Amino acid sequence: MKLTYSNLGGSGNGIGIGNGNGNGSKMSLGKSIKMYLTIFIATTCIYMVLYQYHISQEPFAGSEVVKPVAWGVVGRFVCQQWTICKPPLYIITPTYRRPEQTAELTRLGYTLKHVANLLWLVIEDANKTNPLVAHTLDRIGVPYEYMVAPMPEKYKQTKRAKPRGVSNRNRGLQYLRQHATEGVLYFADDDNTYDISIFEQMRYINKVAMWPVGLVTKTGVSSPIIQNGKLVGFYDGWIGGRKYPVDMAGFAVSVKFLKERPKAEMPFKPGYEEDGFLRSLAPLDNSEIELLADECRDVLTWHTQTKKNAPAQALNRTRYRDTNLEFIDKLLVRP
Ligand code: UGA
Ligand code: MN
Repeated sequence: MKLTYSNLGGSGNGIGIGNGNGNGSKMSLGKSIKMYLTIFIATTCIYMVLYQYHISQEPFAGSEVVKPVAWGVVGRFVCQQWTICKPPLYIITPTYRRPEQTAELTRLGYTLKHVANLLWLVIEDANKTNPLVAHTLDRIGVPYEYMVAPMPEKYKQTKRAKPRGVSNRNRGLQYLRQHATEGVLYFADDDNTYDISIFEQMRYINKVAMWPVGLVTKTGVSSPIIQNGKLVGFYDGWIGGRKYPVDMAGFAVSVKFLKERPKAEMPFKPGYEEDGFLRSLAPLDNSEIELLADECRDVLTWHTQTKKNAPAQALNRTRYRDTNLEFIDKLLVRP
C-alpha cells in the first residue's frame, strides 16, 4: 500500500486547506502538504529502523529489544507505540513452611519489586500450595508463579544434612525449559539479602556470571579471586573438593546457555548443590565466567540466616472468641 497522509490519517479529508473547494493553487498546496507528510513519515520510519539496528549492534544494550506495545493516536495519526524491553529475569526462590516464611517472602518480595521485567518463581517444598503464601505474593504485587516441588521422601527421613531447596530449584529449571527463551535465571533463597543493583548487572550476561556473597563461612565472604582481571581461584572457608566453591547467591546463568545444556540440573547432594549444578553446565571455561559487582570488588548479596522461631502456641479460642486474635491466628504459619 502506498503510504499517504490520507490512508494513514483515516478520514481522507486532508487538514482543512486545499480539499474539495475547486481552488487550483490551494489544491497544489494540499498536494504538497501531502507530499511533505509522506516524506516526513517515510523518514521517521527509516530512522526507527536505523535506530533499532543501531541498538542491536551495541554490546551492552544488545539484549534489549524494541517491541511494539500498542497502537495509539498522535494528533490525527494512528501510530505504533514502541518500548525498549530489558531482558527478563527469572528468580527461582525455594521456600518451605515454617514460622518465618511469610516474613522472609515479604522482605524478599519487596526487594524484587524494585526490579523491572522480572518473573518470580516461588517454589515450595510441599505437596500442595498454601493459600497464605499465595495471599502474601498477591499482596506484594511482583509478577510470580507459585508452584510446589516436595523434597523426595528418602531425603526428608535422613538424619544427615538434607539437600534443601533442590527439588524446588530443579522444578524452576523445568519451568524455564518449558516457558523461557531469553533472559537470565538466578537462585534467590528466601532468607538472603540482595542489593537490587546486582539484578541489573546479571540481566545482560551471556553465559554464567559470578560475584562475592557476604556472611559465608569463617572467611565472612565467599568470592571468586580475581588477579589482573582474571578469575584465578575461589575464596571460601570450605572448599571441600569443589570445582566451584561458590554460594547459591553468587552466580547467575543465561537462559539460552541453560537450554543449550538439556541435562543441566542440581544434584541432591548437601553442600555440593552449587558445584554440581555449575559442573552440569559444562562446557564452561573459567575465562567465560563474567565477573560482576565491580569485578568482584564489591559485596551486593549476603547469605543472611534468620533465627529459628518455635511454632506459635495454640490460641485459646474460648478466651479470645470474637476478638482480632481469631484473624491473626489464621496468618500464623504452623508446621
Ligand atoms: C545454604 C545455601 O545457601 C543453600 O542454597 C543450600 O541449598 C543449603 O545451604 C544447603 O547446602 O543445604 P542455608 O541457609 O544453609 O543455605 O539453607 P536454607 O536457607 O535453610 O535453605 C535454602 C533454601 O531452601 C531456602 O530458600 C529455603 O526456603 C529452602 N528450603 C529449606 C526448602 O525448600 N526446604 C527445606 O526443608 C529447607
Ligand atoms: Mn539460607
